[in-house]
Amino acid sequence: MCGIVGISAQRNIIQHLIAGLAALEYRGYDSAGVVMVAGDGIARIRAKGKVRDLQALQRETGLDGHCGIAHTRWATHGVPSEHNAHPHVSGPTSVVHNGIIENHAVLRARLQAEGFEFTSETDTEVIAHLVESHQRQGKDLLAAVQAAVAELHGAYAIAVVSAREPGVVVGARYGAPLIAGLGEGEQYLASDVHALLPLTRRFIYLEEGDVVKIGHDALDIFDAEGRPVRREIRESHFSADAVDRGEYPHYMLKEIHEQPQAIADTLEGRIAGGRILTQILGVEAERLLAETQSVHIIACGTSYHAGLVARYWIEQLAGVPCTAEIASEYRYRNPVVREGTLFLTISQSGETADTLAALKLSRQRPYLCRMAVCNVPESSIVRESELVLMTRAGPEIGVASTKAFSTQLVALALFALELARARGLDPARYSDGVRQLELLPGQVAQVLALDPQIRRLAEAFVQKQHALFLGRGTHWPVAMEGALKLKEISYIHAEAYAAGELKHGPLALVDADMPVVAVMPNDALLDKLKSNLEEVSARGGQLYVFADEDVATGMDKGHVLTLPRAGEIAAPVISTVPLQLLAYHVAVLRGTDVDQPRNLAKSVTVE
Ligand code: AGP
Repeated sequence: MCGIVGISAQRNIIQHLIAGLAALEYRGYDSAGVVMVAGDGIARIRAKGKVRDLQALQRETGLDGHCGIAHTRWATHGVPSEHNAHPHVSGPTSVVHNGIIENHAVLRARLQAEGFEFTSETDTEVIAHLVESHQRQGKDLLAAVQAAVAELHGAYAIAVVSAREPGVVVGARYGAPLIAGLGEGEQYLASDVHALLPLTRRFIYLEEGDVVKIGHDALDIFDAEGRPVRREIRESHFSADAVDRGEYPHYMLKEIHEQPQAIADTLEGRIAGGRILTQILGVEAERLLAETQSVHIIACGTSYHAGLVARYWIEQLAGVPCTAEIASEYRYRNPVVREGTLFLTISQSGETADTLAALKLSRQRPYLCRMAVCNVPESSIVRESELVLMTRAGPEIGVASTKAFSTQLVALALFALELARARGLDPARYSDGVRQLELLPGQVAQVLALDPQIRRLAEAFVQKQHALFLGRGTHWPVAMEGALKLKEISYIHAEAYAAGELKHGPLALVDADMPVVAVMPNDALLDKLKSNLEEVSARGGQLYVFADEDVATGMDKGHVLTLPRAGEIAAPVISTVPLQLLAYHVAVLRGTDVDQPRNLAKSVTVE
């Protein structure tokens, strides 16, 4: 999604602004732009396409300066184009914005009546004119931004400059992340720490409603009521090369291969002597788990699929009723909440607008508590939850989520097992689950060694327009995740079905041209799944089966790839990895933009 960088310094910072945008490319965008405050005016360059196009324009124009704002845009209002790209300008004032202004039409009509001319279809342009209008009434830039944001409905993170106050950048946030970075003789704003890692490790995570004013030697923060406030300075543990691709051709491939380490990191310090340490969830965890009567899981996309797997675990192991639901649906219905229900959000970014809105809504319901499984410690979702279990996947840059998903499954397994232990799970089953987790990093590494075989399988998909994915039990959501991976990066239409559902409709699609991918663990549903695959085979469907080693030998139909033997906790993680590799190789062979697939954004901070 959109990215913001703002810098006030005593040196020429144009290359740092552009490098900051390049570091945010992974979020997904369609155009980019920069405004520099220079002399008594502002100068702007904008380009549809990639940051490298903006860089070329900068070289052509020679734009530079000590103070500026920059943006990568992901279109919400108005097509991707140069004239809709940020920064937007009103006289000597310029604004970049992430989020959506819901009352932009009303504000636009009012500002047009005041004589302001609009040059874009964006909702953002109203902010530029609004801030300019307040400055014309005598307010300084800080006061003008404070007055402007008070009139906005919706979600925003903004950075604003004005030629009336060279060297000053004012930022504000509500419902979209914005951070301030502290440097020596220069200060920064950005929507994401990655934009600033080469410049500083010291950050302030602004809170909802905060407005911040930076100059090269000063940084002042005001809360939603306009009172000066101090916010904690945090040291980022990310290094600038954590977002380096290294020798890998794509971030996605690097991140798939990082999974053994990411899983090991997610387990580290959380298991001792064969027992999960309950306190890892928070100081109140012991009591809250004992009081939990049911669980509502809310998430989007890949994180939702992790939630669907966890639903099986929570019901099977803990015997606690559990639902998993898409956040964009949950937030607009009237959920009925029974006493003792734990509200669990899952999110890689911790900033997904729908998940965050659902979390806020949960405060109006009688939930026992809110718990987050998340990959970004300073994110809004983490800050608004009482219990937190961090995944330790490290920065995930590829839009297609991979290591975030496997580490989410690991964190959710820790939670499910702990909840189950509090409900009296058979100690042998508990110990077996913990042991499966401990063995997972090695088993995932084993699956990664199958890469050349999976690459060969991928060749059969290159010319296909459609694919079906099948699974049962916890492997149904694994199949959903496999289908999502394939469609989002290769643009092949892929659907996942619970295999038992096949004959209720989708079987009609199966013919000699339809690849059918199945994940086949050695579990209680094995025979039923085999019958479903017979049905596919009988109709000429091309089967691609990823099977547990105990059952792979018995499979005489289609292409069979053997996975390590795995129990109920490890199996969904292990089966996911070949599906990620399959999608990756198909996409590479089709020549798509693997890390930044069309129309998609990494962190969906708008509704
Ligand atoms: C999947 O590959 C996508 N990146 C997407 O479905 C993602 O999982 C979804 O947008 C939720 O994001 P979150 O985990 O950051 O909340």
